[in-house]
Amino acid sequence: MDLTSQWLGMTLKNPFVPSASPLSRSLDACRRLEDAGAAAVVMYSLFEEAVRADDERMGIVPSHQDTGHAEADSYLPFREDFPGELDLYLEQVAALKATLGIPVIASLNGITANGWIRHAKEVEDAGADGLELNTYYIAGNIWEEPTQVEQRYLTVLQELREQVSIPINMKLSPFFSAIGSMVRKLDQTGVAGVSLFNRFYQPDIDIDGLRLQHTLTPSRPSDALLAMHWIAMLHGRVGCSIGATGGIYSAEDAIKVLLAGADVVHQCHALLQKGPEHLEAMINGIGEWMEQMGFEALDDFRGRMSQASVQDPSAYERLNYIRAIAARKKPDGVWR
Ligand SMILES: Cc1cc2nc3c(=O)[nH]c(=O)nc-3n(C[C@H](O)[C@H](O)[C@H](O)COP(=O)(O)O)c2cc1C
Repeated sequence: MDLTSQWLGMTLKNPFVPSASPLSRSLDACRRLEDAGAAAVVMYSLFEEAVRADDERMGIVPSHQDTGHAEADSYLPFREDFPGELDLYLEQVAALKATLGIPVIASLNGITANGWIRHAKEVEDAGADGLELNTYYIAGNIWEEPTQVEQRYLTVLQELREQVSIPINMKLSPFFSAIGSMVRKLDQTGVAGVSLFNRFYQPDIDIDGLRLQHTLTPSRPSDALLAMHWIAMLHGRVGCSIGATGGIYSAEDAIKVLLAGADVVHQCHALLQKGPEHLEAMINGIGEWMEQMGFEALDDFRGRMSQASVQDPSAYERLNYIRAIAARKKPDGVWR
């Protein structure tokens, strides 16, 4: 079976690319992912806020010590004796590159254009094969126009493209008024790939304590349907790679997003819950299905269910909503 996939300008041995997760903090877990068949790995994100907090902490120490003696300066800490988040991240990029034979994609979550650019260059120099931007802007300012919000993504991408030469993948949220147009604009601005969709963790309300609580609720396979839908709409219409992320647990889930047109399939919770070796079962599952269906290569069926390929493209549009409602069966004993 030929499972090769093109992603961010690279040829991968299969479409399975574990997404950013704590697994990439451990060399051993990453080796197990590679042994189980991972074609590339996306690292956990480096958060700009964490780097800034380190810088602030290191800036405070000397300024709060009024030594009065030049000799006493030698007691002040040296920056390199206290590696911060950034140092550890760059070390991990280098260690993963030295350990693994598969591409390593670094991930950044920045808040300022400067932060993105500075750290992007550093991860490139540390040896990363690509860069994922974990773009997590909540358009919380209700006076900000959608075009301004969208422009922020395009500006960051444009500036980064001028500074780094490794391919850039953007992990996007579904919260755009016109996701198709957004992806097209990113494509025109030079994004190498997009991953659909980033998963947000909305705070819940603790009604006894009257406070917000932050919980990490695992995704479900049905979460993948939104991404599947948009991948089907975008396949063949943009030049950048398209990755599916969120809610992919089984070979069947992966086959669906590939049929919609995904170039790669990302998993996080499935691997955290079942272990890196679960990847092998997913890869074997795809192989078995392909054999049953008479497909020899992934490209024999990739995009077969995209909007451009299905006989009835309206099935991906509003009509589907009407059909789904009309087809709903009333459970017994339910009033309506
Ligand atoms: C414990 C944990 C840590 C994560 N860390 C990151 C991260 O650092 N950067 C990132 O972009 N996504 C991160 N994610 C999100 C995942 O990469 C993924 O997009 C999300 O969990 C949905 O995919 P899934 O349904 O396969 O889990 C994290 C998810 C979990 C559960």
